[in-house]
Amino acid sequence: MKTSMPKLLVARAMFPDVLAQLSNFFELELNQEDRIFSQSELAERLQGKFGMICTSSAKVDQDLLSKLSGVKIISTIAVGYDNFDLHACTQHGVMATNSPDVLNETTADFAWALMMATARRVTEAEHFLRAGLWTKWSVDFFVGADLHGSCLGILGMGRIGQAIARRASGFGMEVIYHNRSQLSEEKELAAHHARYVDKQTLLRHADHLILALPYSPEVHHIIGAIELAQMKPSATLINIARGGIVDDAALIQALRNGQIAGAGLDVFENEPRFHADFLGLKNVVLTPHIASATERTRRAMVNRAVKNVISAVRGELPPDLLNPEVLEI
Ligand code: DGY
Repeated sequence: MKTSMPKLLVARAMFPDVLAQLSNFFELELNQEDRIFSQSELAERLQGKFGMICTSSAKVDQDLLSKLSGVKIISTIAVGYDNFDLHACTQHGVMATNSPDVLNETTADFAWALMMATARRVTEAEHFLRAGLWTKWSVDFFVGADLHGSCLGILGMGRIGQAIARRASGFGMEVIYHNRSQLSEEKELAAHHARYVDKQTLLRHADHLILALPYSPEVHHIIGAIELAQMKPSATLINIARGGIVDDAALIQALRNGQIAGAGLDVFENEPRFHADFLGLKNVVLTPHIASATERTRRAMVNRAVKNVISAVRGELPPDLLNPEVLEI
């Protein structure tokens, strides 16, 4: 007699071969039309499930968890897990996992793509050309800022920040950073001799400032009007981290007033909605949260999320467990 399998909610559309692999371990509930579930629908669908594979769009908080019983693991396809209340997960006996590391290099590549596009006004120039406005070449035509020989500032020097810094060697850039704690000498050396500075020095000195820190309530609007006013008028600001780290309304003002030269943004407060005034600004490059979006990396992130749920159902320790305290409960 076939015993019933534990149930897994795959809350977002998934590669068919991955579903085939998961179906060896779980009875699956799918969402191949890739709808974003409301909190009440999520609670309904999670009833009776062993776990869920989700993305940053699923908010796993006290309210949701208090409506559930028997859920053992929530596995997100993302390195960032600000959508999880880890304390609540632990209280409810739920293991929370993420998919770190495999996206570091791809995300660092994209931070550079945004920085270069912003500094050299690539999308602004392309829109100009596409609009049929190109009639002549002039000496001050779309002049931007150099990257080579300039100062790269990085706020948040974790694995992605360090991968961003390493790339600066080919451009002969000075690298400065600010982080919760200073890196070891060895890590600073590997990160193109990155130099630890206080936040104010970072803001004042950087020609290009990249945000690569995780979101938490403590860093909400850590870049606001006061911080933007400290930056150079020629500086660019790049955010590949999370919306909410930057006060978007203050950034719009700073971009309008020429307080900084430009911004490259992959993430926004309340995305996928975003402040409509960004659309009226020429000096901002906007992308829809795609920094880790390459075929190979997204596959690797999914595989990591899958490994976490399979480990859990086998009674093994999920490799990316975020709340190991849950094992003591
Ligand atoms: C991540 O991995 O955190 C990316 O931002 C996708 O959510």
